[in-house]
Amino acid sequence: MQEVIKIEGGHLLEGEVSISGSKNATVALIPAAVLATGPVTIVGVPGIADVASLSEILRMLNVTVKEVAEDHLIIDPTDMKNCDLDSDIVTRLRASYYFMGALLGKYGYVRIKMPGGCYLGPRPIDLHLKGFEALGAEVEYAQGCYTIRAKQLIGTKIFLDIASVGATINIMMAASLAKGRTTIENAAKEPEIIDVATLLNKMGAQVRGAGTNVITVDGVEKLGGCFHEIIPDRIEAGTFTIIAASMAKHMKITNIIPQHIEALTSKLSEMGVKMDIGVDSIVIDRNENLNAADIKTRPYPGFATDLQQPLTALLTQAAGQSTIQDTIYPERFKHCIELQRMGANIDIGTGMSVITGPTKLYGDKVYATDLRCGACLVIAGLIAEGITEIHDIYHIDRGYDDLDGKLKKLGAVIYREMDE
Ligand code: EPU
Repeated sequence: MQEVIKIEGGHLLEGEVSISGSKNATVALIPAAVLATGPVTIVGVPGIADVASLSEILRMLNVTVKEVAEDHLIIDPTDMKNCDLDSDIVTRLRASYYFMGALLGKYGYVRIKMPGGCYLGPRPIDLHLKGFEALGAEVEYAQGCYTIRAKQLIGTKIFLDIASVGATINIMMAASLAKGRTTIENAAKEPEIIDVATLLNKMGAQVRGAGTNVITVDGVEKLGGCFHEIIPDRIEAGTFTIIAASMAKHMKITNIIPQHIEALTSKLSEMGVKMDIGVDSIVIDRNENLNAADIKTRPYPGFATDLQQPLTALLTQAAGQSTIQDTIYPERFKHCIELQRMGANIDIGTGMSVITGPTKLYGDKVYATDLRCGACLVIAGLIAEGITEIHDIYHIDRGYDDLDGKLKKLGAVIYREMDE
């Protein structure tokens, strides 16, 4: 028996919602904390299943994890012992790959299962591995596990063929305890990278240039404990902005960094969404007459691939033909098949979708094939007539902090039931 989310659509939302700490920063900050020799306190930790999985991995490494308040985590690696991470927990999430950089940096040795996570088409990690090799490590792959070892990591110049978020963070972590200077060129510029670099620097690392495409890391001998507050989740902020544009009479979204979602808000304003953007909040009033839009996903500061799926639900309500091209994950279109079941008029092409609207959506039984597909279906369910029943919601729970609870407070009719 599995839990499903049910939504009775058509109810307008109203009120205020506060955005949680960034999931994609958190899942890197937790593994980064093991580089320290003392306790690291992280505040603003979102209540998501990925954090629970990472905490389990920390316990395997004999790292103490204490949840001192709802969103406060104290990670204490004082008595840490390196061990093989070959348990199935590693395959529950993509971010387990950050233990590669962290353990390699700290011990010069890591053995870990192939990371899992949402299936968005092929998601290679060749750039991470090339980065480790450039630092002097040897990489072996056998029986579903990577073994990466180095007698001494030595700083070098690394050019990333693609500005990969994961590879940039992983190399930054390993290089923090390497000998000498590492330069990462064509580094990714996502805000989560700045957040991880900030944590590393508070721990005593020497990382410069995070947020630009050239990052330099001067290796240090040792990293210590510190206190860190996570940045707000820009994808959750974007998701709620789209929810508000779809169904809110009037909604205020707080604890956001508006600059982080500028690619989205400028598209929404092109579509006719009325927004009042403040210093750390945004107020949205619904406009029923939206225009179609053309979206092309790009690395930050371009339009986030993680928001194209949620936005598709809103585009079914816009007048005319919209197009979405995903240049990061060309196979990230499974949500369109689910939306078609609910009445959406979508043509799926190679690496793109064409959405013709407005179309009425009807509640149906649908499947969250991945995390952001889940968010897209929740939005579609709020818009649709009748009851939408979303299956495989563990994907949603992996990355959204109490999405249904927050929506309920805004007036949505949304609840969980056990599937018979
Ligand atoms: N790529 C390679 N080789 C590599 C690494 C990446 O070819 O070694 C390619 C990927 O296949 C992809 C592109 O480079 O086409 C960018 O991938 P990137 O490495 O930047 O993505 P990631 O680090 O695996 C993170 C987020 C994703 C988000 C992407 C893009 C985490 C844990 N995940 O993934 O988040 O979509 O960046 O912004 O931070 C989500 O939150 O739903 C999610 C999937």
